Amino acid sequence: MGKRKVIYLSTPHMSGREMHYIEDAFKKNEIFPNGANVDAFEQDLKKYTGAGYVSCLSSGTAAIHLALIILGVDQGDEVICSSFTFSASANPIVYQKALPIFVDSEPDTWNLRPETLEFAIRDRIRRGKRPKAIIAVHLYGMPARMDEIMEIANRYEIPVIEDAAEAIGSKYKGQACGTFGQIGILSFNGNKTISTSAGGALISSIKEYCDRASFLSTQAREDYPYYEHTEIGYNYRMSNICAGIGRGQMEILDERVNKRRENFFFYKEALKDLPGISFLEGPDSNFYSNHWLTVICVDPNKTSGITHTHIRKEFIKLNIETRPLWKPMHLQPVFKECPAYVDGTSERLFNLGLCLPSSSCITDEERQYVADSLRNIINKRQF
Ligand SMILES: Cc1ncc(COP(=O)(O)O)c(C=O)c1O
Repeated sequence: MGKRKVIYLSTPHMSGREMHYIEDAFKKNEIFPNGANVDAFEQDLKKYTGAGYVSCLSSGTAAIHLALIILGVDQGDEVICSSFTFSASANPIVYQKALPIFVDSEPDTWNLRPETLEFAIRDRIRRGKRPKAIIAVHLYGMPARMDEIMEIANRYEIPVIEDAAEAIGSKYKGQACGTFGQIGILSFNGNKTISTSAGGALISSIKEYCDRASFLSTQAREDYPYYEHTEIGYNYRMSNICAGIGRGQMEILDERVNKRRENFFFYKEALKDLPGISFLEGPDSNFYSNHWLTVICVDPNKTSGITHTHIRKEFIKLNIETRPLWKPMHLQPVFKECPAYVDGTSERLFNLGLCLPSSSCITDEERQYVADSLRNIINKRQF
């Protein structure tokens, strides 16, 4: 029997409507950043998230970078960031020559632990520096405890950037992730719930912030007939072609979120009696996750020693792509000098966790195959 087609972790999934918007851009020769598709995609995102304002950019990383600049983060400043995240959450802090201060997760949401956040803020202030911003991440689509995080941040008058790169469609207490903090960011990278090939957005209830993002992302060009610059700019604006893809993706965003959520419920049901397997599922119904990726933890004490690494390697033989969890930033060699307020939670999760194939285009048969294979591996059956 030939080898089975690879079942990927998370792939782009087009609606079929994208070419319509791209062709329109070609017809109008709008093959540049900005343009009608960018305007319309911003309107779509505004409506979908309920954000007051949106600026579409070249990537989620660019959006975080501009968010830091807009909030005045500069050389020598300190910025608190969730340790359990992808490096793109923290890298822009270093672009600004500021210092990342990492804070650990809580076990329920895997996101910023409010008590540790407050402890870190107090300690930084005691040492002489009030953090300039907080980057709160909604990891794997799971909403962070935004009520508590915002209450603490407001009390210490520190602005919050919500990294909702993985969380479009996720809600906390009915409100879209990314709309709690002063600034939110989204990503439309190829592996996300919707893809524009590459792309991101900065969202805010403050018009000036989104206007600044659009201005800075187009080389900070002042409104003169010639090129006049009073600030350093960036080439971070979204391409009108990418925005055309985004418009086509917005038409089916709800379906894509529903399918990713369905993947999670499927795996949970299919594996419910397997000892040693637990899921990232959030504390209660206030935490409405898009379940961008379905994530499991494998406890080797209950699986006769079988670890997530063992499972991942067995899956490779079966052409099933899985991925370990994000390695926490405080454990990354590149950030080893950064202060970290940690209690072992994200490190423990990193040592146990595995992301399962979660594409919105995964078939029922493929999903079943993944679940059956996992069961077989844990039961140590021979293939
Ligand atoms: C948590 C998180 N933050 C930021 C980013 C950066 O987004 P982008 O790839 O669009 O730059 C990503 C994804 O890539 C992410 O997963």
